[in-house]
Amino acid sequence: MKTPREMIDLRDYTTMRVSAKAKYFIEINSLADLKDAVQFARKRKLKIQVIGAGSNTIFFKDFEGLVLRIQLKGIEIVDEDESQIKLKVAAGEDWNELVMYCVDNNWGGIENLALIPGTVGAAPVQNIGAYGVELEDVFTELEAFMLATDSVEVMSNRLCNFRYRASIFKHELKDKAIILNVTLTLQKNHVPDSSYDDLHAYLKAMGIKNPGIKQVCDAVVAVRSSKLPDPNELSNTGSFFQNPIISVSLYNQLKQKYHDMPSYPFSNFQLKVPAGWLIEKAGWKGFRDGDAGVYPKQALIIVNYGHATAAQILKLSKNIQIDVYEKFGITLTPEVNLIEG
Ligand code: EPU
Repeated sequence: MKTPREMIDLRDYTTMRVSAKAKYFIEINSLADLKDAVQFARKRKLKIQVIGAGSNTIFFKDFEGLVLRIQLKGIEIVDEDESQIKLKVAAGEDWNELVMYCVDNNWGGIENLALIPGTVGAAPVQNIGAYGVELEDVFTELEAFMLATDSVEVMSNRLCNFRYRASIFKHELKDKAIILNVTLTLQKNHVPDSSYDDLHAYLKAMGIKNPGIKQVCDAVVAVRSSKLPDPNELSNTGSFFQNPIISVSLYNQLKQKYHDMPSYPFSNFQLKVPAGWLIEKAGWKGFRDGDAGVYPKQALIIVNYGHATAAQILKLSKNIQIDVYEKFGITLTPEVNLIEG
């Protein structure tokens, strides 16, 4: 059995790169490692926190339990015919590398999700999405280790209860299931979706009509890189908040004052509005206090310019929430996983 390491700074394992120590820390390379680690934690009555690439997690305090870094690897073709291919991908594989592998093989369905930082195992937790596509669109099933029974269970798309930036793993099964692998179904004769405004505009400017998978992927990479900071260059966790869902009546009220307020359809009675727009309108875009700031090109991203502390990031995010609520009557909910210790 591997022994967990002690007092490890999580700064090096999270893309926001704020310091917080894990009392115990272990890398998981197999199901056997995972079972041993769970036993280790149980014996000592330690809390368990799972991380992948740490690209959507911020530890606000030292973590008094055991952090498991999932490093399970492997991609397996489990089924294939002339129109589809089914891939079973281990949770520790890098999401973007998987996207590039699929694009290189001309297997379609996840090209719009290029460059999203993180691991494959983290993707279902918040049903990652970008440019009009969400993981649930290609997701078939996953296998998870259930802490209540110490058994591996298969969960279908329907059971995962996917919705906007959420799934059963973020709510009912939070801290109760550890995702081991994910099976996706990709298309061999795929017509990619390039209808999202930014993508459409980019492809039009490039003179590309009826783009293929690779062209849409390249467009996503270009658009994303022009707006979102690369966490390897500037520490961040992507969108800090979810785009809020508000009633049509509140939207109509606000629209009288803010004629340019964008929205996306959500349901008959509700609309989704871009948090980035609200935060910019409230005057926070480009704001910086010490090393904590709001990214100048996308107000939805909180960045750490170097040595910001978790407390400074939290203070900035709370101030944004308060101000947006005062100005628009809209509550912003964090999209990142905030671990309080
Ligand atoms: N906007 C502003 N100011 C800003 C940012 C955005 O006015 O500072 C406006 C834009 O002009 C546009 C609208 O808000 O009208 C939407 O902006 P954008 O297309 O950049 O997308 P978003 O809604 O801010 C969401 C996802 C991103 C994803 C993009 C593209 C959430 C919380 N975020 O952002 O996901 O890449 O759409 O699909 O849903 C992530 O989850 O970490 C992430 C980056």
